[in-house]
Amino acid sequence: KMALQLLIHVALLRLSATAGPSVQGRDFRTPAVAWPSYFDLNWPQEVQETIQIPNNGSAPLLVDVRVFVSNVFNVDILRYTVSSMLLLRLSWLDTRLAWNASVRPRRAITLPWDSLWTPGLTIQEALWVDWQDQSPRARVDPDGHVDLYLTLTTETNCDFELLHFPRDQSDCNLSFYALGNTALELEFRAHAVNEIVSVKREYVVRDLKTQVPPQQLVPCFQVTLRLQNTALKAIIALLVPGEALLLADMCGGLLPLQATERIAYKVTLLLGYLVFHSSLVQALPSSSSCNPLLIYYFTVLLLLLFASTMETVLLAALLARGDLRAKSGPSPTPRAEQHGHGDSEPNPEEPRVKGSRRSQAEAADHVFFLVYVVGVVCSQFFFIGLWMWATCKSDPAPGKAVPHGGQPRL
Ligand SMILES: *[C@@H]1O[C@H](CO)[C@@H](O)[C@H](O)[C@H]1NC(C)=O
Ligand SMILES: *[C@@H]1O[C@H](CO)[C@@H](O)[C@H](O)[C@H]1NC(C)=O
Ligand SMILES: *[C@@H]1O[C@H](CO)[C@@H](O)[C@H](O)[C@H]1NC(C)=O
Repeated sequence: KMALQLLIHVALLRLSATAGPSVQGRDFRTPAVAWPSYFDLNWPQEVQETIQIPNNGSAPLLVDVRVFVSNVFNVDILRYTVSSMLLLRLSWLDTRLAWNASVRPRRAITLPWDSLWTPGLTIQEALWVDWQDQSPRARVDPDGHVDLYLTLTTETNCDFELLHFPRDQSDCNLSFYALGNTALELEFRAHAVNEIVSVKREYVVRDLKTQVPPQQLVPCFQVTLRLQNTALKAIIALLVPGEALLLADMCGGLLPLQATERIAYKVTLLLGYLVFHSSLVQALPSSSSCNPLLIYYFTVLLLLLFASTMETVLLAALLARGDLRAKSGPSPTPRAEQHGHGDSEPNPEEPRVKGSRRSQAEAADHVFFLVYVVGVVCSQFFFIGLWMWATCKSDPAPGKAVPHGGQPRL
């Protein structure tokens, strides 16, 4: 028992060790290289000075950010992630780098990024960030304007609103934080430019916005992508087969009740639908709130098909039982034995009982057929209405509900 407990403990430890770190985006600056030189007093004063943030008196330094979104690919609704390629152009004024243009007539110089101050950026929602240029270069004007270009590919988490899947639209945020500075030292001013040229995508970017959230302790800017699902595939592959099956099932109600093919027909339809349903449920995402309406729709469809099959089976059983009783009922009577088979001289009671039972079953079947058709049509209209007017409000995020949650604050 002790061994088992130990095993569980070790397993839990391993779990917690692997679950932790991968959520945060990698910081662009790798400070490990710079640490020893910081404390080295022989280090030239100017170099140490230029990697400090430029001072703008009591106001924060303004960093202008242009975000060029060049690609949004791999929108994965099952994992709630989206991958994107961005180019950031950061520009700011660092007067310490200015020079007298009449003494040194050069229009601009390029400097390695670690020889001057650059904002270190972290993306809050990122699972991973791939900064394509590991040592980007900054371009400096004679008057000290610095331009720095950063290209990155990132996979970020996004809470898709999938209620209206496959016609869904969601806003995905990318929040860039400069964790190395405070809002008193640094302020971002952001603009986004949509540079996506590829249109062969299921999800297209309908809108692109940037904002600087107010009252942050850490300088921050946010890029919001509005993604819209344009795929026709889901409609063709999901809705059309579902509707066709339902229609086929309704037409099955027109077959006479006595025909044994009717049960075979309905059971085959139900079986086919079950296979379709299980693959469908796997293809749709699920979440704690705002599940796709399609999941409910197809479950109702399954219940309808099931009810219609059950009705056929029950009525057929009733009929068969009536037939059996009608057949076995008169046989023990001596008159039937006397005249050989009952068919030669029919019992006057037998066809009446049999006929009434049969007509009852047929009437029940007819009523059920009408009710079924009305039910199917009503359910379709109900879902159309739900689709048009239903909106979904997700539960409040746990991080926003607790007093110390929310965005990182320092
Ligand atoms: C310094 O702050 C002022 C006021 O916010 C601003 O207009 C100016 O652009 C800032 N200068 C730099 C270099 O960021
Ligand atoms: C630049 O250098 C020239 C020549 O030495 C000098 O006359 C001028 O005042 C300098 N300009 C500045 C802004 O220091
Ligand atoms: C994106 O950011 C905006 C502004 O901070 C916020 O209102 C919105 O809820 C965020 N959206 C998501 C999906 O996190």
